[in-house]
Amino acid sequence: MKFFIDTANLAEIKEAQALGVLDGVTTNPSLMLKDGVSGDENQLQRYVDICEIVDGDVSAEVIATDLEGIINEGEALAKLHTQITVKVPMIKDGIKALKYFSDKGIKTNCTLVFSPGQALLAAKAGATYVSPFIGRLDDATTDGVELIAQIRHIYDNYGYETQILAASIRNPMHIIKCAEVGADVATCPLSAILGLMKHPLTDIGLAQFIADYNKVNAVTA
Ligand code: G3P
Repeated sequence: MKFFIDTANLAEIKEAQALGVLDGVTTNPSLMLKDGVSGDENQLQRYVDICEIVDGDVSAEVIATDLEGIINEGEALAKLHTQITVKVPMIKDGIKALKYFSDKGIKTNCTLVFSPGQALLAAKAGATYVSPFIGRLDDATTDGVELIAQIRHIYDNYGYETQILAASIRNPMHIIKCAEVGADVATCPLSAILGLMKHPLTDIGLAQFIADYNKVNAVTA
């Protein structure tokens, strides 16, 4: 399972990269706003900065909602860096753009996916990644992880190569559940990735080992 970090914050990206378990980054306009990155020029520079920190794919979202606009923005984003993946919304012109980018060999991430039918369309259009938003589904009292399982089943039935990128992950259990049902990628806040390593028995056990080592190896004056 690949781990992406879902943020535009360079310090968080560097911390995740330093762990050695990071495979890529996803961003969106809300995450840019959260990190105070305003203006097109600064946002484009932020994508380049992110690409220089990580080795894997970096999703950069288009703002246009018409085919020509999506294509123009997407092509400009793709030219920024070889690691850029163009993030396209699940709308009619978005599907057409996915097919266009796919035919041109430009990587894509179909975002704002909330149903198996939307995921099927994204795969048929040749999306590199599909992003089901599981936390937002949970918020709306619909099982987000169940959607990941449905998409996995459908993609496996037909051998679609589109990677399932579980998004809107809020906590470590979301990551575990997505791994159980076969998501290819989880894009997570740093807190959810760090949360995976926590267990009180690890802390208690480590304290005991250190205490026992010190008893055996105590320096006698
Ligand atoms: O990857 C999508 C993500 O940024 C949305 O997360 O927590 O706003 O639903 P959230």
